[in-house]
Amino acid sequence: MARPSVMVTRRWPAAVEARLAENYDAVLNTGDKPLSPAEFRQALKTYDAVLPTVTDRLNAEALDVPATRTRILANYGVGYSHICEQTARSLGLTVTNTPDVLSECTADLAMTLLLMAARRAGEGERELRAGGWTGWRPTHLVGTKVSGKTLGIIGYGRIGQEMARRAHHGFGMTIIVQNRSRVDPSILAHCNATQVDSVEELLPQCDFVSLHCPGGDGNRHLINAARLDLMKPGAFLINTARGEVVDERALIQALMFETIGGAALDVFDGEPRINPDLMQCDNVVMLPHLGSATREAREAMGFRVLDNLGDFFEGRDPRDRVI
Ligand code: DGY
Repeated sequence: MARPSVMVTRRWPAAVEARLAENYDAVLNTGDKPLSPAEFRQALKTYDAVLPTVTDRLNAEALDVPATRTRILANYGVGYSHICEQTARSLGLTVTNTPDVLSECTADLAMTLLLMAARRAGEGERELRAGGWTGWRPTHLVGTKVSGKTLGIIGYGRIGQEMARRAHHGFGMTIIVQNRSRVDPSILAHCNATQVDSVEELLPQCDFVSLHCPGGDGNRHLINAARLDLMKPGAFLINTARGEVVDERALIQALMFETIGGAALDVFDGEPRINPDLMQCDNVVMLPHLGSATREAREAMGFRVLDNLGDFFEGRDPRDRVI
């Protein structure tokens, strides 16, 4: 029997690409160039499975194909707000993601950002590399203490819980949680966390606020001007979730007028384009979407896609089916 054909939209770790080529009639993207909507539509007509990732904007236009050969979009990544759910459903596509295997590394990066923002690490590095460091002095680049402070976590899924674990058990932080559903008390107890009912209730209590909720239309501009106003004057916002969750114009205002202490961002609305005004703000740390960027996590994400494909083509319900 012919092997299913699969199309990978970006370069993947070599070990995973090798396994894909063993198991499937695999078309790899060795040039690592993102597909255009027209190329994506062509792929949907040609292959049994397409393996997209966050850089593929699979809106109604990109998925506008009357008859697809593709039956599964096995996404590389946990977030899938780049895939239009309604269109995927109308085409009868199965969609899977890659949870769990990147939670620790993404939380590590969120903690990195939190520490960098609080301790002004980006500013320090820029100053040193520019040759501007004149030596130690008591008033130089004085930041904010992290240990023992209060961290608010918006979205208490797997990554949010890993972030809480690091902050509470590593840095003695008090954890406050906002989540759309009730979190099991035994899960909250791991970090002695308290769940509040609303974002409004959480924000004024926190020295740091870290976003771990899904992106997409439902959470677009969840953090807006009114909510930024509720943050403590010296507090920091950390976003490793999705760019659209934060109203960047409102955030830039808050950073420029220093109504909050600062921000640390790994994701951006319309990335990789960065709002030029953000570049002007010294009190923001920015990284190029590195949350899951470790060899271990990126390989595990790829093998998780393989698990999902194996389930699907062998007639089982894929373990990570989201649509
Ligand atoms: C994820 O897994 O969601 C990462 O942000 C890359 O898509």
